[in-house]
Amino acid sequence: MKKITIAIDGFSSCGKSTMAKDLAKEVGYIYIDSGAMYRAVTLYSIENGIFNGNTIDTEKLKQDIKNIRISFKLNPETGRPDTHLNGVNVESKIRSMEVSSKVSPISALDFVREAMVAQQQVMGKEKGIVMDGRDIGTTVFPDAELKIFVTASPEIRAQRRYDELKAKGQKASFDEILENVKQRDYMDQHREVSPLRKAEDALLLDNTNLTIEQQKKWLFEQFNKIT
Ligand code: C5P
Repeated sequence: MKKITIAIDGFSSCGKSTMAKDLAKEVGYIYIDSGAMYRAVTLYSIENGIFNGNTIDTEKLKQDIKNIRISFKLNPETGRPDTHLNGVNVESKIRSMEVSSKVSPISALDFVREAMVAQQQVMGKEKGIVMDGRDIGTTVFPDAELKIFVTASPEIRAQRRYDELKAKGQKASFDEILENVKQRDYMDQHREVSPLRKAEDALLLDNTNLTIEQQKKWLFEQFNKIT
């Protein structure tokens, strides 16, 4: 069967990665969480004094960006890929509230996006890939055969994120998460470079009132229609 490229974009915490991972596993495709890459650059910036308070040392980040190596390695315990930053597993660290609250300004920098998009395009050269993010259908893989744009209400998304962090035993406040979700929505939609928007040929999925199972079924139907 011919392999295709699948782009899943949408707002933060709307279940994109769950559906993307499930589909990739089921059809034997590679799964790439592009948000994890922007989170890893953000963690690097925090740990290396580039993101200090509210200030970003863009000159230093520009110099360092070529030395930031991001890779994904399968975690045999979870069966899912963990994010590695310069060889170190940072999967847990990149999901912290600190990284979540600083990732949008980092991902708005043009040279950061250029570097990440170039890496993502290499990852998808052979097709057979499901990538989720904000600009996959518009910028990274504009020719993807299947494009999905996912959305859900901010409150539902904050609740899902809250439950996820709690389940992992991490500290979480619903109000803080809701505020973060709304702020990221705004910044991701209003940045100059590759703002979050639905590609014209993307299918819209509002999963506010869908269970994970219903959403999974819908996605498989779309995949089966075109393969
Ligand atoms: O998907 P996730 O919520 O982990 O992404 C974290 C952040 O990374 C987003 O809020 C957005 O600012 C940025 N991002 C992006 N482009 C992508 C994926 C994520 O700008 N393709």
